[in-house]
This record gives sequence, C-alpha cells and structure tokens, in this order.
Amino acid sequence: KTISPDQQPPKMPGALPLLGHMLEFGKNPFDYMMRLRNTLGEIGEFRMFHQKMVLMTGPEANEAFFRAPDAQLDQSQAYKIMTPIFGKGVVFDAPPHKKDQQLKMLMPVLRDKPMRGYAQVIVQEVEEMIANWGDTGEIDLLEFMKELTIYTSSHCLLGDEFRYELNEEFAKIYHDLEKGVNPLAFVFPYLPLPVFRRRDKARARLQELVTGIIAKRAQKTEKSEDAFQLLIDATYDDGSSLSAHEITGMLIGTIFAGHHTTAGTAAWTLLELARRPENMAQVLDELDTHFGVDGEVTFQSLREIPVLESVIKEVLRLHPPLIFLIRKVMQDFHFKDYTVKAGKYVCASPRVSHRIAEVFPDPEKFDPDRYSDARQEDAKPYSWIAFGGGKHKCSGNAFAMLQLKAIFSILLRRYTFELINEKDSYQDDFTQMVVQPLSPCRVRYVKRKNINEQAAESIAQPDGQESRQADYGFTIQIDKELCQGHATCMTEAPELFQVDDAGNLTVLQEQPQLDLLFKAQQAEKYCPTKAIKIKLN
Ligand code: HEM
Repeated sequence: KTISPDQQPPKMPGALPLLGHMLEFGKNPFDYMMRLRNTLGEIGEFRMFHQKMVLMTGPEANEAFFRAPDAQLDQSQAYKIMTPIFGKGVVFDAPPHKKDQQLKMLMPVLRDKPMRGYAQVIVQEVEEMIANWGDTGEIDLLEFMKELTIYTSSHCLLGDEFRYELNEEFAKIYHDLEKGVNPLAFVFPYLPLPVFRRRDKARARLQELVTGIIAKRAQKTEKSEDAFQLLIDATYDDGSSLSAHEITGMLIGTIFAGHHTTAGTAAWTLLELARRPENMAQVLDELDTHFGVDGEVTFQSLREIPVLESVIKEVLRLHPPLIFLIRKVMQDFHFKDYTVKAGKYVCASPRVSHRIAEVFPDPEKFDPDRYSDARQEDAKPYSWIAFGGGKHKCSGNAFAMLQLKAIFSILLRRYTFELINEKDSYQDDFTQMVVQPLSPCRVRYVKRKNINEQAAESIAQPDGQESRQADYGFTIQIDKELCQGHATCMTEAPELFQVDDAGNLTVLQEQPQLDLLFKAQQAEKYCPTKAIKIKLN
C-alpha cells in the first residue's frame, strides 16, 4: 500500500461529539493509550474536547519526538499550570532564549561535583527518619517517601537555612504550593479561589524568605555550597544575575520536578521488592556484601550496586511516574510518511513505549535481568525513556538515581518490609498528574537480624580486560545534542574531557593513548545523558 508523504496520522474511532475521547482517556489514560497503540500502531490521533492529540510510541517515534527542535515542538504549553507557582518569566514561562539560559544555570546544581556531597546529606536524612522506628511498626510507604524526599531535596538544594531554621514554615509553604497544582489553572490560573489565594500567598512568602537569605549570605565570608548559592552566583550571557523572583521559581521548580517522581519510584521499588522475595534476596545479598553492617555509603560506593540499580530501572520501566509527555506542534512535524499539522499536540508515552514486546519481551514481567550485559534490552536508543530523552532529558536523573540508591542502601540493611494488604491491591493511581502508588499504601517494617557481618571490601576494581583487547587505540564520539554539561566525564577522565562553567564540553585528545581507555569507558558508563560513545579502533 502506498502512502502519500503528506498523510495525516490515522484516527482512533469512537470520538463523541464535543468531548472527543475525553471520557475514555480520563477513566484510565494508560489503558487508553495502550489501546491506541494496539489499534493504530506507532502513531495515531485522538481528541480531547476539540484539541487534536497525536500519540507516538516506540523507539523510532520517540527519537523523532525527542530530537525535534523546540521551535517545532514546544514544551512550554504543558507546564502552563505551573506558572503561578514557579513564577511569571521563570523557565517554561520565559521566552526561549531566556528559558535555555535558566535551564543551563540549573545544571551546575545537578553536576557531578556537588552530587558527591549530596550522597552524605541523603544518608544522614534517611538515618534521622528511621532513628526512632524501634523493632517493628507500620507506615504508609508513599507518605514516608514523600516526607523523606522533601527533606533530602530541600537540604541538598535549598541548604541549611530552610532545612533547619525554617523547616516548619517551609513545610507549610510547600503544602500550599502543592495544593495549588490544580487542572483549573490551565484555564483560569488566577481565579479567586481559596486554594489559589493560599498558593499565591505561599509563593510571595517564599520569595521574602529567599530575599532575606540572599542578604544574610552576602554578609558572610564563608560561602555555602548548595544549589541556592549556585543560583545566587549564576549570571545570564549579558552578565546580569538572577532576581530573587527567578531564584525562588527555579528552586521550587527543581524541588517539584524531583519530589513526587522520586517519592513514587522509591515507594514502588520497595513494594515490588516486598512482593518478590527472590529479587529482595538478591538485592540484600548485594547490599550486605558491598556495605556490611556499617559500611560507609558514599557517592563512589553507590555506583557499584548493579543489582539494586537494575531493580530501580525495572520499576521505572513498569511504573514511570510521568506516563505521557506533551509538546505543542508549532511547525508541521514529519514522521516517516506522516505529517502532524501545526496546532495539534504530540505526546510520547514512557509507560506505553516500555510495554512493547518487540523491545521488552514478556513486557508485563518484572525482570531486572533485562539490563544485564548479556541481554541489554534497553540498549536500543529511545526505548527506555522514564527520564525522557534528547535535549530535554531529565537533568535530575543522576540525582534521582543517587537518592534512590542511597535510600535503599540504608533502609534495607536496617529493616525488612512486608506488605499489609493483598499483594495485587497495590496499584498505580492514574488520577494523579505524577502517577504513584494508590493511597493508602501500608507496609510493616521489622528490624533485621543476622546481617552478614563481613563487609566485602571489594568495590569493583578495573580489571583492565577491555584495555588489553584494544590493540589499535580508540575513538571518542560525542552526541552534542544529548550533552547537558553534567561534567561527570571530566571527573572520570580529566585528561580527555573538559567542561567549562557554562557546561560546554571539549574533547581534549583526538587520538588518546590506550592507557586512558578504562577512564574513557568509565566516562561513557556514567554519563547521565549517554552522550559519549567509545569505539575501539
Ligand atoms: C525533566 C522524569 C527526578 C529535574 C524530566 C522529564 C522526565 C523526567 C520524563 C522530561 C519531561 C519532558 O520531556 O517533557 C523524572 C523521573 C524522576 C525525576 C522519573 C525520578 C525518578 C528529577 C529530579 C530533578 C529533576 C530529582 C531535580 C533535582 C528535572 C528538570 C527537567 C526534568 C529540571 C527539565 C529538563 C529540561 O527540560 O531541560 N524529568 N525526573 N527530575 N526533570 Fe526529572
């Protein structure tokens, strides 16, 4: 069958007058999108009221979606609901050149160097949360993870003043901001409703506090090292600084981006492990061997726990908190033989793309071994997209993984966890914008005994095997579009990579010496955006 190059995407049947597919989609967006994929394939159109939406799924469609320039597929519309919270003119509400610079200014906060300090902070927060747990008890897992991750992210990002001196006031402000996230804000963001009024009061108070702290910090000789300080010191291309309004918005935006996403993933990780004793046993074995009873949890040691890492990846495959991502089509957009006209919206769906049997065989099965060296089911680019992809891939992904691994490295060595309700009763809650386990989500914890006392000292050492295989040198390839300037490569192999303060990467050696191969491969392995490829010649 021949298709004309200007073919419109196929349409889902069953649109109701006025409503379109709104009712079916609203009932369970994931079921609906899965049905669309099964009916129409990798691209297909549906309607929400009058608005035409095009769903694109699978690695090739994802690649087209994530690689399209902002001028063609615009992300800011999807975040309109957040403008009253983040602030006018902040990130997604800013004009494109300003938005890009602001997102870039956030990068130093999430770069490799500060990340090393965050590990300690997270460990300390987990220890404090469970200090009074005693031998056994019951908790709501999601509530626990939400509380824990607000402490970890406010401590790492906002710094000591908010975490200690202003902790209670910040909790109240944050609560009022969260309650202000309401779909009504898409249409009437400033309607005089009590929730919106409290939201605006909280935003104004936060900015007052931020302004006060900026002034106080300016008097001190000793500099703080948190994200807040990095934003105080950041400058636009023209040399001007961020205003208190912008700093407030960027800090709150970063905390929002990482809070429910990380808390939901943490809760699901524990639930999936609690209902799968064999996976739990493997994780405990790895943690006990790696850390022993009192082994220090450090940035470096957290890199060497592949079993837990694969479990988290599998949780994010089956329960990605963002089940669909939206862009507005600003200029006609082409995919294969299809054209999506300007004015429509396109969506990618991590949740649907993660359940394609040709990419992830037996997709409903929880199987962390998929990511083993032998299978590498996620190796195909844009197949595993829980953190999105391309230029706008989650810049907090390394921070999120670090947090999750740090949390479980402490929690699972102190306590075991049992489900209180029937194991299939723990389900995703699709009514939330950030999908997370349905509340209540209760578990019982029991203090562990007989932990393997022998901390294996072995943090995996380079065995140099691959270096020996490479007799003809190697080449470094950079996908500039993917690089966000995390600078992990510069820490791993300073001889090969340099990242300047603005996040621009330079490869220092065209034909590196073979003795740098291992370091180059570490840089490839730990690059949070997978922008580096090392090819043996
Ligand atoms: C963007 C997922 C944690 C900061 C994104 C996107 C996804 C995502 C899918 C892309 C959105 C799009 O393309 O429209 C997640 C998941 C997380 C997580 C699953 C946890 C498990 C975090 C954390 C932070 C963070 C902890 C910060 C500390 C951001 C930022 C962006 C983003 C700043 C916007 C990037 C840009 O547009 O350039 N996240 N995220 N995220 N995330 Fe995350």
